[in-house]
Amino acid sequence: MVHLRVLTTNDWPLWREVRLAALSEAPHAFKSRLADWHNGGEERWRARLAMPSTYNVVALLEGQTVGVAAGLRGDADACELRSVWVSPRARGRSVGDRLVAAVEKWARQAGAATLKLAVIPDNEPAVALYQRNGFSDTGELGDLLSDGRTRERLRVKVLR
Ligand SMILES: CC(C)(COP(=O)(O)OP(=O)(O)OC[C@H]1O[C@@H](n2cnc3c(N)ncnc32)[C@H](O)[C@@H]1OP(=O)(O)O)[C@@H](O)C(=O)NCCC(=O)NCCS
Repeated sequence: MVHLRVLTTNDWPLWREVRLAALSEAPHAFKSRLADWHNGGEERWRARLAMPSTYNVVALLEGQTVGVAAGLRGDADACELRSVWVSPRARGRSVGDRLVAAVEKWARQAGAATLKLAVIPDNEPAVALYQRNGFSDTGELGDLLSDGRTRERLRVKVLR
């Protein structure tokens, strides 16, 4: 049975475990690189979780992290969905849907008008996850990835 847990700064080992797993398993999906993080010490992981106006949630299966998602408060009206990953062993069980819904609920409670995200256009499982959860392609391009060619595309869900 997969359950979700919202993290505090003291949960930094869980955050480190799941983020390193995500960056190792799906480097193509993220702007952050494993090399940027794998030597980070406790203070760095704690500092990430202690960032104000953030929400960090993991999915756990039999005590092990199998998924993650984060919410960041941007400007006054917008929140951002980041770092979505589900371990291959837990895929296809709506864990992604539950993580996205948790961040959306947090964003609504924070009073955000929109929840935004950036996704690499050929990442079909991720695009499908966001499409069925109501995130529309804005047509806007996001950051250039480290390959120097690919650009993310921005999606948004209007919350109010
Ligand atoms: C995107 C992601 C979170 C979706 O995982 P999920 O929510 O468990 O997937 P779903 O429940 O939506 O699975 C739907 C279907 O796609 C399949 N699927 C999911 N992810 C897949 C993948 N990466 N490759 C191939 N098939 C995948 C599932 O087996 C399932 O098949 P079914 O419809 O025949 O049952 C997951 O694929 C992932 O972590 N990918 C790598 C990281 C990533 O891309 N993150 C998003 C960054 S923007």
